[in-house]
Amino acid sequence: MTVRTTTKGNPVNAFSNLKETGLAGKVVIITGGAQGIGLATARRFRAEDSQVVIVDLKTQPGDEVALELGATFMPLDVTDEAAVNAMAEEVFAKYGRIDVLVNNAGITADGKMVSIDKATGELKFMSLDRWDRVMDVNLRGAFICSQAVLRYMVPARSGCLLFASSIVATSGNAGQGNYGASKAGLLALMKAYARELGKFGIRSNAVLPGFTETSMLDTVPKWMMDAIIDGTPMGRLVDPRHIANAYANLAGDQSASTTGSSVAVDCGFTL
Ligand SMILES: NC(=O)c1ccc[n+]([C@@H]2O[C@H](COP(=O)([O-])OP(=O)(O)OC[C@H]3O[C@@H](n4cnc5c(N)ncnc54)[C@H](O)[C@@H]3O)[C@@H](O)[C@H]2O)c1
Repeated sequence: MTVRTTTKGNPVNAFSNLKETGLAGKVVIITGGAQGIGLATARRFRAEDSQVVIVDLKTQPGDEVALELGATFMPLDVTDEAAVNAMAEEVFAKYGRIDVLVNNAGITADGKMVSIDKATGELKFMSLDRWDRVMDVNLRGAFICSQAVLRYMVPARSGCLLFASSIVATSGNAGQGNYGASKAGLLALMKAYARELGKFGIRSNAVLPGFTETSMLDTVPKWMMDAIIDGTPMGRLVDPRHIANAYANLAGDQSASTTGSSVAVDCGFTL
């Protein structure tokens, strides 16, 4: 049997221009892009020849990595609405467009919501401050950043919002009530944007990373890390580059019909 691969009329042709991601030259803002998953994502979009803007609280290593990647770095706290709006205005003034926002900045402040003090037998509660800090960066920050870029995406009738949720958004996690709630909130926010903005050509999607090899896991005790790896079908942590691949795939033209979806990249942890 002759296998036809490139001739006219071959079904392969129907996909030929869908192999292009269309990400070259696109302006991509990545929050929390100075390290970890955000940095891997900045590298991934640069590999597509996108114009990458890294925003992060950390000027070091933000400045350095941006220089190395040929990206732009802007110091930013995603919870500061005025600063976020000014950043989006500056990016638009410089590039004339904003195509993709990766809402990646996130923090943990783990602790049980209620526990019993071993020494005194007293009930201890998660402080409101610990709750608010996590909700502020993870959920409110993503809302502020999304609203800021939509000022430019809606008139352009084009754009892509991406959200860093987590596997704990759906399963919940003891000791992470605040974090899980923020990540579940992001899923609802992502879906609301997908519903509201589809008619403007704007897509909204999320990635649910499993336990990923970054410094975010530095505070997790070794016995817990061992148990996590043991309970993961693939027997290892997620490589941050694979999360970055998921973002790039969702942003690319090959996913032009995908909105309101969430992709788990977790080595099978949530199976
Ligand atoms: N590592 C994991 O196992 C894992 C799992 C699920 C989801 N996630 C999510 O993925 C995202 C990236 O995680 P990571 O592991 O790379 O974490 P990380 O701690 O290595 O990086 C987070 C980055 O966000 C920045 N940041 C924090 N607060 C900020 C603020 N207010 N304004 C601007 N920047 C701020 C930090 O400076 C840092 O550079 C987070 O949203 C996290 O919740 C991570």
